[in-house]
Amino acid sequence: MEIRKVGVLGCGLMGSGIAQVCATAGFDVTVLEVEQKLLDKGFSGIEKSLAKLAEKGTLKEAPEKVRARLKGTTRREDLAACDLVIEAIIENVDEKRKMYASLDPIVKKDAIFASNTSSISITQLMTATNRPERFVGLHFFNPVPLMKLVEVVRTIATVDDVYESVYEFSKKLGKVPVRTSDKTGFIVNRLLVPYMLDAIRAFEEGVGSVPDIDNAMKLGCGYPMGPFTLLDFVGLDTTYYITHIMYDEFKEKRFASPPLLKRLVMAGWYGRKSGKGFYDYSDPNNPVPVKL
Ligand code: 3HC
Repeated sequence: MEIRKVGVLGCGLMGSGIAQVCATAGFDVTVLEVEQKLLDKGFSGIEKSLAKLAEKGTLKEAPEKVRARLKGTTRREDLAACDLVIEAIIENVDEKRKMYASLDPIVKKDAIFASNTSSISITQLMTATNRPERFVGLHFFNPVPLMKLVEVVRTIATVDDVYESVYEFSKKLGKVPVRTSDKTGFIVNRLLVPYMLDAIRAFEEGVGSVPDIDNAMKLGCGYPMGPFTLLDFVGLDTTYYITHIMYDEFKEKRFASPPLLKRLVMAGWYGRKSGKGFYDYSDPNNPVPVKL
């Protein structure tokens, strides 16, 4: 099945990035949000990102041409003709199920539904619709315009032609897709989350300071960011939420949240987005380790 028109649900950090890469690859994209204000915010981020990529010479056409393929809407009916709908709304099972259930009768019957969830079961989401066989996970990474990977997730109900269409679609976005199945965390978070949690435990046990552990992994292993910089980048609230879903699924200690992570989240220190986490971002270009 050929995918031409794409719908994106949510214009936050992930949704706007997904919409941007789809439009850059030549697809017509309609982005749904609850309020115009949120669309404006997301689209302004897209414009900045496109300008940056154009300045670097990595955009094949003028940013305005890409922008012209993007439409924002607050009406679900505007997604009726989409071939693929990618959901990137809040990581909350009930909210996602509600969204899919309301769109299912509106969007054409043979369209594919996908979720960008990082940890919620795709199987649990697909049952909110009457098209479980046309439902996949499509997990992008932050920042979406720069990160090459997409995890393409199949459930026990996904049919082959749907899976292969989405796999090929991911390649057209200039991404490298990997095949994975609907097990919580898929490939990346299954390995990444225990690593980040272990870094917090190592710090709690006095193995090293936050900047020393970060530098050790950056310079000793060639990672682009150390684990604490990455935790702050991903969001401590997001990570905390993921640990609950993963622990619930596997009942293994390596997926359990360390007490310090819980304390930071309770304090409202979510990382870069709230201005403070393991580092203080009062000067975003010069983060300073927080005394913990
Ligand atoms: N659009 C366009 N340009 C962007 C951008 C965006 N969205 N975000 C950053 N850039 C630009 C920067 O402005 C910068 O431009 P410059 O060279 O002109 O200054 C350039 O990209 C490089 O950025 P940085 O200077 O910050 O330097 P880096 O070389 O460190 O690259 C990075 C940034 C790609 C984010 C790199 O640090 C990296 O790969 N970090 C790891 C990210 C990662 O692991 N992400 C996955 C998180 S896990 C996840 O998403 C899953 C979820 O389920 C939890």
